[in-house]
Amino acid sequence: MKRILARKTPNKIGKEVRLLGWVNSVRDHGKISFIDLRDRTGIVQCVGQKLGEISSEYVVEIIGKVAKRPEKLVNPNIPTGEVEVQIKSVKIISKASELPLPIGTDGLEIEESVRSKYRYLDLRRPRMAKNIRLRSQTVSFIRDWLTKRSFVEIETPILTKTTPEGARDFLVPSRLQKGKFYALPQSPQQYKQLLMVAGFERYFQIARCFRDEDSRADRAYGEFTQIDIEMSFVEQEDILVLTEKMFTELVKEVFPNKKISQSPWPRISHKEAMSKYKTDKPDLRKDKSDKDELAFSWVVDFPLFTAQSSGDYFHGSGSAKLAPSHHMFTAPHPDDVAKLLEDPASVRGLQHDLVLNGFEVGGGSIRIHDPEIQSKIFKLIGFSENQKKDFDHLLKAFEYGVPPHGGIAPGLDRLLMALLGESSLREVMAFPTQASGATSVLDAPSKPSQEQLKELGIKVSS
Ligand code: AMO
Repeated sequence: MKRILARKTPNKIGKEVRLLGWVNSVRDHGKISFIDLRDRTGIVQCVGQKLGEISSEYVVEIIGKVAKRPEKLVNPNIPTGEVEVQIKSVKIISKASELPLPIGTDGLEIEESVRSKYRYLDLRRPRMAKNIRLRSQTVSFIRDWLTKRSFVEIETPILTKTTPEGARDFLVPSRLQKGKFYALPQSPQQYKQLLMVAGFERYFQIARCFRDEDSRADRAYGEFTQIDIEMSFVEQEDILVLTEKMFTELVKEVFPNKKISQSPWPRISHKEAMSKYKTDKPDLRKDKSDKDELAFSWVVDFPLFTAQSSGDYFHGSGSAKLAPSHHMFTAPHPDDVAKLLEDPASVRGLQHDLVLNGFEVGGGSIRIHDPEIQSKIFKLIGFSENQKKDFDHLLKAFEYGVPPHGGIAPGLDRLLMALLGESSLREVMAFPTQASGATSVLDAPSKPSQEQLKELGIKVSS
């Protein structure tokens, strides 16, 4: 007999059905017992006699007849609440040990290391399952939306060279060229600019990014995902309008219960944000206790540079006191270019940050496409000749006909966290890394074997 899903049982009243799934709960009432059977579509109540030894989370096959429940036993809280399945047979497909953590609660009360170790069980809890499904729908919506508008989805390398986004790199040793290392990309920034030189004009990627920086609730340690976008022949306005339209339609389609509090989204200069709200990511919600309010805003007109601090990982050196506010490929405001040398601190950059409910959920800029200006920026942030060489490929590429270009990279995890009102990025990631750096379930990093190290020409000193 063909399997039928729990959610479809109300369409099968009077029919015999075959269900497959997990035992969500069993209630033994002496003569009769109830099994709530769970599958990917939800729960349906099954009722029978002498069911044998069945426990929660067993995987079972139930064959039975779908019947309408008497009026007073209808459960209006679940979509299958009008029916129940009268069990003819139950077959145990696999047994389940007692779970090491409860999955019926929202899970926020459970210690992170326990949730992480048993993440495959943690993901059974309805809140997590819902978040991961909404993540999938979000990605699918965006992929479709951008593809329909002539964007080309292009994968860029994971084994690559340092990309200066302000964090430490993760390094991967090379076996073929001993003593040399790949870096995992902090973002696909340079590749997406090279793709503009290549002539694609409209690129996007659901891109995995790797940054070795301390984690916070809204900052993942290790890896996270960006909706990485780049366009040629555009001005900042085009990027803001496209992003605003895409996310407004996303909210309408995938998060219909959420309300965007102001449209068009307010645009605030960095100066105004700092003086009025004392932050560059203001929370503009009218009512902060309303979990369904979404207050998007743009922060623009950032200074091109900030003061360089010892924690900066963009590798500037020497006596330079300036670091890029966004990254070193961000174009100065055309009205301020003349001031680059005599008063760099007053130069505005064509940077745009997307803010949602007090979180920076995206950042981007119009890029420099003039090799001369790019060289000036390298100089101002204190790059040595050697450091400049690391970016020769980009300047070289710009010698062969580079279109003006710019883009944005909303952080998918942070966007979902803000959209769903979750307290941490981990609540919207399937297998997040813990603050300690340990990965979910597989508990990496781990020690390599002596043979592996030998092959790589590496000696570990401690
Ligand atoms: P930026 O470094 O501002 O820009 O990153 C863009 C967005 O990515 C998200 N994000 C993170 N999310 C979770 N954990 C992290 N550790 C983390 N770091 C960043 C944020 C942020 O706004 N290449 C440029 C983009 C561009 O210029 O087009 C870049 O990576 O939501």
